Order: sequence, then structure tokens, then C-alpha cells
Amino acid sequence: MEGTLASETRALLASARAWLAEFVEEGIDGFERSAPRDADPIVGAQSLAADPPAALRIAPPTPTAQRPTLAQVREQLGECTRCRLSEGRTQIVFGDGNPQAALMFIGEGPGETEDQRGLPFVGRAGELLTQMIEKGLEIPRSEVYICNIVKCRPPGNRTPLADEIQTCRSFLDAQIEAVQPRVIIALGKPAASVLLGRDVAITRERGSWHAYRGIPVMPTLHPAYILRQYTPENRRLVWSDLKAALERSRQ
Ligand code: URA
Repeated sequence: MEGTLASETRALLASARAWLAEFVEEGIDGFERSAPRDADPIVGAQSLAADPPAALRIAPPTPTAQRPTLAQVREQLGECTRCRLSEGRTQIVFGDGNPQAALMFIGEGPGETEDQRGLPFVGRAGELLTQMIEKGLEIPRSEVYICNIVKCRPPGNRTPLADEIQTCRSFLDAQIEAVQPRVIIALGKPAASVLLGRDVAITRERGSWHAYRGIPVMPTLHPAYILRQYTPENRRLVWSDLKAALERSRQ
């Protein structure tokens, strides 16, 4: 009997720890006693399978005076040689768009065209993303902010490695802090995994709301994946994610 109780207690503790770890990963740093479910602004209709934790709330924005500007972040980055990606790059691809954007798109890393031009998402995948923004959401690309989890092209367009992502991380965080978007759209598995702090199965987790540093995050399929799997279903899924993100950014 005692053995059973002890093992149940251990199991309960382990599950409580797992919950806490998940909250920490999602940038939650406080809990409120009670909040009516429909008063919770961050949990969208698509993630209401279980009772939403009351703590999933949008954090108040950092006061302007304490925020870095994008220009300051870029200056800090300098002609970066902090990781091996600098060895193969033509140019740093810092970011592009409105410094006060309500919507921020975060991708994986520059490809060949981006490396040549110094701008994110300007190759084939970028053309599709631009179309989705301009023709789909009907907003100019210049109204949103776009960047990547790493600022230099990984050789052969491979997925950035953990230490490269880690080295670039403070610059991504500073960009988020500078822009203070109302919603972040994580494009593809690597970006979603960085923001959610765990390995994300993107096809399963796209379309559900998460949070990073108190900012709502919508993971969705990467445009390069859509180009490879150009099915009506995939296009419909991304479209529904982007629409949800835009709506939320306007609430
Ligand atoms: N893919 C990305 O993830 N980012 C870019 O900038 C271009 C392609």
C-alpha cells in the first residue's frame, strides 16, 4: 500500500514538474488564481481541448525606453564571426520590414538568394511567403517584420545546428523585444522548436496557439515545405493559420 502511494506521489510530482517545465518553455512566469476561460486572450479556439492555464496571458509590452531599437541590435551584431556560419556567408541577413510590425514572421535561416541579397525570404519560398502576405492577408510585405533564427546561410541550406541557433539567439530575442509584435508566426519546425523550447512536430502542432515571452505564437508550415508539397490541403492549412494570426494581431 505504502509502495503504491509512494509511486503515485512520484508520478504526480513528475507530471507537475513536466507541466511547470512546459510553462517555463512557453515564457510563463506567473499564475493567477482564477480567470474565466473566455476572458483568456491568448488561448484561441483551436487550442481549447483542455482547460487553458489561466497564466497564458499576453505579457504587458516592455516600456519603450527599455527596449533596444532594431538599429542598435544590428549594430551589436556587427560583422559577426561568433559561429562557423560566418565562414560561408556572403552577407548577414538580419531582417526586413516594419520595425513596429504587429505581425512578425520567423523562419529558419537564409538560403542562397537571401545570402546574395542580404534580405530574408526573397528566393522561391520567399516569393510564396510574400504572395501569402500580400494576396492572402492583403497587407503589404513592408508592413510585417521578417527574420530568421540564424542570420547567416547554413552551408547547402542545411538546418542550423543547436550551437549556431544558440549563438544567434540573443539577437533574435532582441529583435523580438525591439519590434514587440502582437503575434509571431513561426515558419516551420526549426523556428517553432526554438520558440517553444522543445522539439515541435510541425504538422501536428501548426494551427494552435503558444506563447514566447508573453507573445502569442502561431506555428505554421514553412513555405519551402508548401512548395515541395503543393497540395490544396497544405495551402488551406497555412492560409487558416495566417488568417488566425492576422485576426489575433488586430484584437
Ligand atoms: N527560408 C528561410 O527559412 N528563411 C529565409 O530567409 C529563406 C528561406
